[in-house]
Formats: sequence, C-alpha cells, structure tokens
Amino acid sequence: MAQQVQRTLAIVKPDGVEQRVVGKVVSRIEAEGFRIAAIRSARLSKAEAEGFYAVHRGKPFFASLTAFMSSGPAVVMVLEREDAIAKWREVMGATNPASAAPGTLRKELATSVERNVVHGSDAPETAAFEIAYFFGGVDLIG
Ligand code: CMP
Repeated sequence: MAQQVQRTLAIVKPDGVEQRVVGKVVSRIEAEGFRIAAIRSARLSKAEAEGFYAVHRGKPFFASLTAFMSSGPAVVMVLEREDAIAKWREVMGATNPASAAPGTLRKELATSVERNVVHGSDAPETAAFEIAYFFGGVDLIG
C-alpha cells in the first residue's frame, strides 16, 4: 500500500547552530527526499522550551534540557514526505549518539544524549502539536 504524505517538525538544536552544521543537516534533509514546507530561526525562552517539552516535565533531565534548548538560537522546520515522522527519526539516529547507527546525523554530529543536534516529532499527534507550536497561523504551502 502507498505510504501517506506526512509532516513532521524538525529542529536543529542550539548545539547544531553553534557548530554551524545547519547547512549539513538541511543538505541531508533534501537528499533524503523531504520537502521543507517551512523554516525559521527561533530563540526559545525558558518558558517556551518548557512548553515545547511539556511531556518531559518531571523527568530528571527536564531542567537541564530546557536550559540547553533556550541557550541559543535553533532552526525549526516543517518537513514533508511519505512516512516523514519515521523517516526523519531514522535519519537522525537514536537519541543517545553513543547508540546511534553509523551514518545518522546524531552519530556524526552529536556530543551527548542532551546535546544531540536535532529533534524530530515521535508520532502524528506530537507532530501536529509541535508544528502548531512554531508555525501556528502560518499558511504552509502544500
Ligand atoms: P529530543 O528528541 O529532542 O526529545 C527529548 C530530549 O530530551 C532528547 O532529544 C534529548 O535531548 C533529551 N534527553 C532525552 N533523554 C535524556 C537523558 N536521559 N538525559 C538527558 N537528556 C535527555
């Protein structure tokens, strides 16, 4: 059966912007057949990072994660392709770069489980929430 065209939210996190690998990540995104439906820089406040990662509130890494995510500019994107959510997660690699597969962005670029360069939505419901979080009111060009 044909795969459905889907959207997911991708972030180049502050460590990726600081390392100047935004171009490398975007090149990989395009090479993997995604269409970039929207893209912008975002400097998150601590409160905005907490809202974005609300599902992780209460976890031991929450304070550190939200401090990191608000430590500098990030680049946020809406990616579109067939099976976008799973495919982008495959291209990123495992959350912890130590266990990420060779050739994945996190294996190549990430330095720790927290400073792991990129983010991707993990399910259709979270993708809808995350896209609206950064691009609510934006008319995404289909
Ligand atoms: P991300 O895919 O953006 O989703 C949640 C983030 O929390 C994750 O990437 C990591 O940056 C961070 N994270 C997840 N697990 C841990 C952990 N055990 N310790 C520190 N940070 C974590």
